[in-house]
Amino acid sequence: MSAQPLPIAVLVSGTGTNLQALLDTVHAREAQVVAVASSAAGVPALARAAARDVPAEVFARADYPNRGARDEDLADWLHARGARLIVLAGYMALLSESFLQRFPGAVINVHPSLLPSFPGLHAIEQALAYGVKVFGVTVHFVDAGVDSGPVILQRAVELPGAHTPDEVLAALRPLEHALLPEAVRLFARGALRPDPEHPRRIVIDG
Ligand code: GRF
Repeated sequence: MSAQPLPIAVLVSGTGTNLQALLDTVHAREAQVVAVASSAAGVPALARAAARDVPAEVFARADYPNRGARDEDLADWLHARGARLIVLAGYMALLSESFLQRFPGAVINVHPSLLPSFPGLHAIEQALAYGVKVFGVTVHFVDAGVDSGPVILQRAVELPGAHTPDEVLAALRPLEHALLPEAVRLFARGALRPDPEHPRRIVIDG
């Protein structure tokens, strides 16, 4: 583990339970949450940031002429706050390629399915509609596609009798809240690297 906590930013849009998990585990330890950016005003995630005195700002698409302008402002603010890892935790907006180029190899996301199954919106509903018996969570690097970047961590849970999104979500929440902080810990100690022979495959050192 590096001596100094890694400065990280968390991007949110809603409830913020994954943000809370980060604040309760890695914050002020392996990592320091230096910024919370929300795509929407008035969401519970912003109150969670305020409760821990973490600077938070709203970057709403409606306040900008286009997505690129919003993302440029967002990237400028995150850079100014010193963030070296950007964590998407329930962030419901797409990020432009120019944003990703500002933080190369340093944007990660948590998604409530076993990717590459069920990317995009309503992943749990997609999985239920398909009739799967095994559900799960993926933490991955973000690339220009939708939930298509290299996988960092995955965990599965067998729910052969699940019928409703709420019961699946209840089973996936604890997995998300364990996996996302774990991925941040690994990134903070420099333990994640692409396999040189197969760059999509992320090797975990140690
Ligand atoms: C999580 O299920 C996450 O996987 C998805 O959005 C949800 C966010 O929940 N990307 P919360 O705002 O962290 O409670």
